[in-house]
Amino acid sequence: MEPAAPVALVTGAANGIGRAITLRLRDDGFRVAAADIEPVGPADGVTGYELDVSDLEALEPLVSRIEQHVGPLAALVNVAGICLPEPVDRLTLDAYRRQHAVLMDGPVWLARTAGLRMAARGYGRIVNITSVHASVGEPGTLAYDSAKAGLEAATRTLAIELGPRGVIVNSVAPGFVRTRMSVLNGVNELDSAWFRDIYQGHGKLPLRHPAEPGEIAGAVSYLVSADNTYCTGQRLVVDGGLTVTF
Ligand SMILES: NC(=O)c1ccc[n+]([C@@H]2O[C@H](COP(=O)([O-])OP(=O)(O)OC[C@H]3O[C@@H](n4cnc5c(N)ncnc54)[C@H](O)[C@@H]3O)[C@@H](O)[C@H]2O)c1
Repeated sequence: MEPAAPVALVTGAANGIGRAITLRLRDDGFRVAAADIEPVGPADGVTGYELDVSDLEALEPLVSRIEQHVGPLAALVNVAGICLPEPVDRLTLDAYRRQHAVLMDGPVWLARTAGLRMAARGYGRIVNITSVHASVGEPGTLAYDSAKAGLEAATRTLAIELGPRGVIVNSVAPGFVRTRMSVLNGVNELDSAWFRDIYQGHGKLPLRHPAEPGEIAGAVSYLVSADNTYCTGQRLVVDGGLTVTF
């Protein structure tokens, strides 16, 4: 009899990078539990789950339900995210808390929750989608940047504690990716004159083009695969060279 396909949980799976990762892992042979606060579009090999990742009490019951219905988790990819840019002096406490809850507290607690179950079985792969913003700053993204940096710190600690029990934990840090998150005030920043001038014209972005979501999914595909036996606690920067230029 064929062994059952491994199971992956992907959050933020309804749109953008999360959707691309969901379909890529499905094509790699995973059965995918696709969780999002928005409805997840139907796809073969994918089961949708409703999730607000900031609701920490809901995470253990969700993982339990997925493991009963789909099977024991072999992989978790934390993708769900929001970005509410505001200059420091206009940032409200609500917006600060919401970004930290969705971008850091939820993913960290979900990684702990799923990671402990994986550790008890002696095998697991976790990837946290962070951002170049975890290591370089920009005006207006205080809450986003600090939450993403916190998620990278948690990635390292989880890798250290869970590694001896067979669980590998990494983060993937994208740069510019063409999704709805690049639309600010109705304008896609990737189609703006300043993006074309600075990043493409003047070469601040060595590969000259923003990533498509599938290019991020490709990096995740390796890190969550059984081929990845020795890379843990790392951040893989997938930014077209953005952060290696002055
Ligand atoms: N687009 C970029 O340029 C870029 C760059 C670096 C990092 N990222 C990160 O990639 C991830 C995916 O972003 P994207 O660009 O695909 O944006 P997106 O808006 O297309 O996707 C984000 C998804 O997260 C879901 N989500 C939001 N809040 C949630 C919650 N509380 N619980 C569960 N799901 C929730 C949304 O419904 C959506 O499906 C985010 O963590 C983002 O910070 C994006």
